[in-house]
Amino acid sequence: MLDFCSHRRTLLVAFFLCLTLFGSLLIQLPSLAPKTPRPETEVIDMNINGTNTTVLVWYWPFGEKSSVDGNVCWERFGIPNCKLVDDRSMFSVADFVVFHNRELIKGQQRLPVHLTRPQRQKWVWFSLESPANNGNVKPFAGHFNCTMSYRHDADIYTPYGSLVPQDFGTGLAVEDFITKKKTSLACWVVSNYEAHLKRTDVYNRLKTIIPVNVYGGAVNKRLDDKVLLPTISHCYFYLSFENSIFKDYITEKFWYNGFMGGAVPVVLGPPREQYEAVAPKDSFIHVDDFPSLEELGKFLKRLAEDKERYVSYFNWKVKYTVKQFADWREEFCKICPKVSSLQKHKVYEDLHTWEWQ
Ligand SMILES: *[C@@H]1O[C@H](CO)[C@@H](O)[C@H](O)[C@H]1NC(C)=O
Ligand SMILES: *[C@@H]1O[C@H](CO)[C@@H](O)[C@H](O)[C@H]1NC(C)=O
Ligand SMILES: *[C@@H]1O[C@H](CO)[C@@H](O)[C@H](O)[C@H]1NC(C)=O
Repeated sequence: MLDFCSHRRTLLVAFFLCLTLFGSLLIQLPSLAPKTPRPETEVIDMNINGTNTTVLVWYWPFGEKSSVDGNVCWERFGIPNCKLVDDRSMFSVADFVVFHNRELIKGQQRLPVHLTRPQRQKWVWFSLESPANNGNVKPFAGHFNCTMSYRHDADIYTPYGSLVPQDFGTGLAVEDFITKKKTSLACWVVSNYEAHLKRTDVYNRLKTIIPVNVYGGAVNKRLDDKVLLPTISHCYFYLSFENSIFKDYITEKFWYNGFMGGAVPVVLGPPREQYEAVAPKDSFIHVDDFPSLEELGKFLKRLAEDKERYVSYFNWKVKYTVKQFADWREEFCKICPKVSSLQKHKVYEDLHTWEWQ
């Protein structure tokens, strides 16, 4: 019985190994597949399955053009059945057309309202800015069918970052993920103080309570990309202060500067629950956790001296890595897997109210 089972298991394993091996050869090395056209039985569509969804990028955000040659969504991001194009002549066959908000509000780009929209085609409004920095979107009322943003309730959710489970194997302790030599209590990188922002006020009061090392354009201490994270890694805490406070608006100040920088983020932004929806509750400190900034300051000082407790804020590091927003194309490819769950018919009659709610 035992023998039979293990024999069967071996066969099964061998079978799946062959299958996987053969499958991956065909996917990754298409040149190995026979070149002559053959009947549909040979359609080895691990990635291409019947229909392709076509996503047309009407213009690239900030003019940052990337190549869409080949089957980029599949080859680079593992997203099947998705065709990403940036050639406007594809308008009539596109299932989705994406418009990045900034260029629209600046008048650098226009919606192609003069073209006849195919019935099934959906226009996607895309922005990673908070409503405070999105300008006036009222003129776009009634034009869009989908929203794409960092908000959880957008049709296509494109957060600034996320935690991805990762198996680091055994033998690594939390300490291995933390820079040992911490030289500053709290650090902040800011390009522009902008006196009217809440974060400026909080910083001005906090710095009278604890020392804060400030870097960035605002203080003429710009850190280039190479030194940014290493600098932050020597700080116990990083002030992940958002420029404005809106639902789900949690940016690279948290994911990149804080989490990837290796300092515990002290966040000023949406309520704690919204951070807890994307990160473990004991991985950051929320300004609102304290009745006053004095209390916050005292807490940070005590925590920096309590090694064991401080290190516990990094427990997530042995289980997850941070996936950062990195490539516009990946965000656009993410539209395809959403197709089946999107409402068949939807129009944002009042984009402004949706944004500010
Ligand atoms: C291809 O389509 C079939 C039928 O709709 C589905 O069951 C299968 O999972 C699809 N395969 C891939 C790789 O998407
Ligand atoms: C889907 O797109 C890929 C890549 O552009 C292409 O090779 C394939 O033929 C397309 N499949 C269908 C069914 O249109
Ligand atoms: C998309 O929005 C337009 C403009 O309001 C509308 O005419 C069209 O029916 C919508 N299409 C879908 C698929 O929801």
